[in-house]
Amino acid sequence: MNKTEINWQELGFGYIKTDYRYISTWKNGVWDEGELVEDNFLRISEASTGLHYGQQCFEGLKAYRTKDGSIQLFRPDENAKRMQKSCKKIMMPEMPVDKFIDACIQVVKANEHFVPPYGTGASLYLRPFMFGTGHKVGVSPAPEYIFCVFCVPVGAYFKGGMKPVNFITTDYDRAAPMGTGAAKVGGNYAASLQAHQEAVDAGFADCIYLDAATHTKIEEVGAANFFGITKDDVFVTPKSPSILPSITKYSLLYLAKNYMNMKAEERDVEIDNIDEFKEAGACGTAAVITPIGAISHNGIKHVFHSETEVGPVTKKLYDILTGIQLGDIEAPEGWIYKV
Ligand code: PLP
Ligand code: COI
Repeated sequence: MNKTEINWQELGFGYIKTDYRYISTWKNGVWDEGELVEDNFLRISEASTGLHYGQQCFEGLKAYRTKDGSIQLFRPDENAKRMQKSCKKIMMPEMPVDKFIDACIQVVKANEHFVPPYGTGASLYLRPFMFGTGHKVGVSPAPEYIFCVFCVPVGAYFKGGMKPVNFITTDYDRAAPMGTGAAKVGGNYAASLQAHQEAVDAGFADCIYLDAATHTKIEEVGAANFFGITKDDVFVTPKSPSILPSITKYSLLYLAKNYMNMKAEERDVEIDNIDEFKEAGACGTAAVITPIGAISHNGIKHVFHSETEVGPVTKKLYDILTGIQLGDIEAPEGWIYKV
């Protein structure tokens, strides 16, 4: 697709073939040099563990166009480190942090004209992923691995962007306490598809997962983390071994404390005490900050600030986070990587 065919303001979260992607292969214990390629299809063994046993993980991060036209990445080192943890969890070789960041930068540079202009609300989403390949039928780690990074220009993940959307709790579990919930592995997302669809069919943006052991505490908001603002202005986000350690969530914990002088904490969030929050939101790379209008649980709808307007604290957090990502607000040291 030519960039002149893209209406930046209308972008959702869909696939567009961009010009180049990065591929590196792991064989005999080493990663090869890696290269940019134009072909957006991969040729792999029919017996790849990534296809059969879910030996696969991925990441998501964004490149932003700043006001002066330059391009920057937000905390790619954190994505690189999280990918290493995911790889460890499912016995895949780690990608060195520097090589991961270099691959991302190469992909952004090679697809520079797909980085949306400043002020459109859109950005370039990078999708690094790794999976087991080579011939393997038994259930054990693959003999070879492919690491790839492709990119797509994206807009809002949840329709409405900064307009509140509603969620419903689900009885399905996404991840077990000693399972893979904290790793960004494909199996967690396969496990979420049915719950997601049922929530959408019932008229909600997505579902909210509760902890698998007791079904009393909030874990994730679809493919994003949860946060709430208590009536006395504390930023709260769930602490659990089975949620993804969201880079956006840790950034917001820091920003709430250091840029907004709020108390900010990770702790249990009881679904039966959800009315302790005057505002709530979903946060993540794709979701950015999406205000939660209401959560339905056991047939009761709990409205936070409003179902149509974003609350003031959520708006302030959004402005600071996106201001940093777009280069308008000075970032904490080490958060921004210039392309
Ligand atoms: N939770 C899940 C299940 C996710 O898939 C994501 C997206 O990466 C997040 C939370 C948010 O994480 P991050 O802020 O690092 O994008
Ligand atoms: C992200 O925010 O990067 C995600 O992983 C969400 C989803 C598109 C899987």
